[in-house]
Amino acid sequence: FIPPSSGGSGGGIVAKDALGNDVKASSFLAEHNVGDRVLTQGFKGDPTYIVVEGEQAIADYGLNAVCTHLGCVVPWNASAEKFICPCHGSQYNKAGKVVRGPAPLSLALVHVDVAEDDNVVLTQWTEEDFRTQEKPWWV
Ligand code: FES
Repeated sequence: FIPPSSGGSGGGIVAKDALGNDVKASSFLAEHNVGDRVLTQGFKGDPTYIVVEGEQAIADYGLNAVCTHLGCVVPWNASAEKFICPCHGSQYNKAGKVVRGPAPLSLALVHVDVAEDDNVVLTQWTEEDFRTQEKPWWV
């Protein structure tokens, strides 16, 4: 049972780094380069990529790193500008859209916002998948 959201950012969580600390937008941006996809801990501890979109900008979407084939964590390959699964070779483009199987589906999305206290906050993505114009399969 999932209680209905009271709207807006209801149900959000703060992304955690590898040590379990809250991810802060200012230090995150200082430590990473434009174009980086950086693993954090998201909902249920799922490995979740935060995207550095610009010098001072975190993308408003994040990507669940769990491969939709059999669940390996998919690493970002910066030189290929793709996520390439080491288990059976599935590939996802830089927005997590599947471009090569055997993975059947794109990486799940989450919303990413920076709160007033600088925390990087994740909320569930329940709207249309902007990469496929389809309903989100993960909801
Ligand atoms: Fe990723 Fe099989 S688990 S391709």
